[in-house]
Amino acid sequence: MTAPMTRPMPAPMPEPEPAALLEVSGLSLWRGSRKILDEVSLRLGRGETLALVGESGAGKSTIAVALMGLMSAREARVEGRLRFDDLPDLLALRERDWAGLRGRRMSMVFQDAGAALNPCYTVGSQLVSVLRRKLGLGRAEARTRAVALLEGVGINDAAARLSAYPHQLSGGMQQRVMVAIALACNPELLLADEPTSALDVTIQAQIIRLILDQTRARGASCIFVLHDLALASQSCDRIVVLYAGQVMEAGATRTVLERPLHPYTQALKSCVVEIGTDELAPLDGGVPAYDRMPAGCRFATRCPRAAPRCAAERPPLATLDGREIACWNPGDPA
Ligand SMILES: Nc1ncnc2c1ncn2[C@@H]1O[C@H](COP(=O)(O)OP(=O)(O)OP(=O)(O)O)[C@@H](O)[C@H]1O
Ligand code: SF4
Ligand SMILES: [Mg+2]
Repeated sequence: MTAPMTRPMPAPMPEPEPAALLEVSGLSLWRGSRKILDEVSLRLGRGETLALVGESGAGKSTIAVALMGLMSAREARVEGRLRFDDLPDLLALRERDWAGLRGRRMSMVFQDAGAALNPCYTVGSQLVSVLRRKLGLGRAEARTRAVALLEGVGINDAAARLSAYPHQLSGGMQQRVMVAIALACNPELLLADEPTSALDVTIQAQIIRLILDQTRARGASCIFVLHDLALASQSCDRIVVLYAGQVMEAGATRTVLERPLHPYTQALKSCVVEIGTDELAPLDGGVPAYDRMPAGCRFATRCPRAAPRCAAERPPLATLDGREIACWNPGDPA
């Protein structure tokens, strides 16, 4: 008697990846003939925190400003695709569509709160006007909400602070007000462009913690623009390492920073005495001028592993060991 035929069990279907809140694909940006961003791609999940890191001039703020639609066609030519939730192409939006999005569904905390806040208006009127304009609240309701928002960002005696002018507050308090304004409409995405670099070190950690706690409590996603690799490793789920407008390496922060496989990430990491203890020190050499960039990998002029093809042919962003990496010769340092 022949044994009954057994059908092989079908392999379990892989869990579909949840749709990202934000997907940036092939974002390039020119200022005149200078290509500042060169096919930047990144993905941000709902509730995720992502760090954009890289040396000065890497294009971190340019990405943030492009994501917020704050650049006019006269300032820059932009190509690529920015999908945000149900909006398939932010680059195709008209200015009046942006007005409904900016400040409501996505908002930004700038580096220098002192410069971002209007010195001629009290913090209360600046907060109340956002709530009235963006959410259509009446004056009394907006005032009550403004007090609650200031309390939420740790400002004592919030009702009395509404009548303070920005110059009457410390730098840390000004930045807390900026966070309150940015969170006023419960945005799904918060962009924080070096939100603490104008503050002293003891306040920096408090403000980063505040932004993380407040965005997590709201289930919002957050992009931090940072110089500081230690801060990125402590605060962010994912990291994107940028060099001269190109993505060099991206992935889960722990994966990328514990064992970076890109020579640039390795160089950045070697500038930190120990993760969690210091800021980045400058690397040897400099970023090439944007009008004299190599056609291929932009790090080729400083890379210890550069090969002849590197400067001529751009390495594609490819998956390797659980991260994305753009390098012809990735691996552990020799
Ligand atoms: N308004 C502008 N006009 C002309 N060039 C600009 C402008 N803003 C930025 N750039 C150039 O674009 C490049 C990227 O600048 P960006 O400010 O995005 O860098 P970054 O990574 O944010 O640097 P940093 O860490 O110093 O803030 C730089 O070479 C800069 O000189
Ligand atoms: S592509 Fe070449 S130059 Fe660029 S990082 Fe890799 S090895 Fe270095
Ligand atoms: Mg910047």
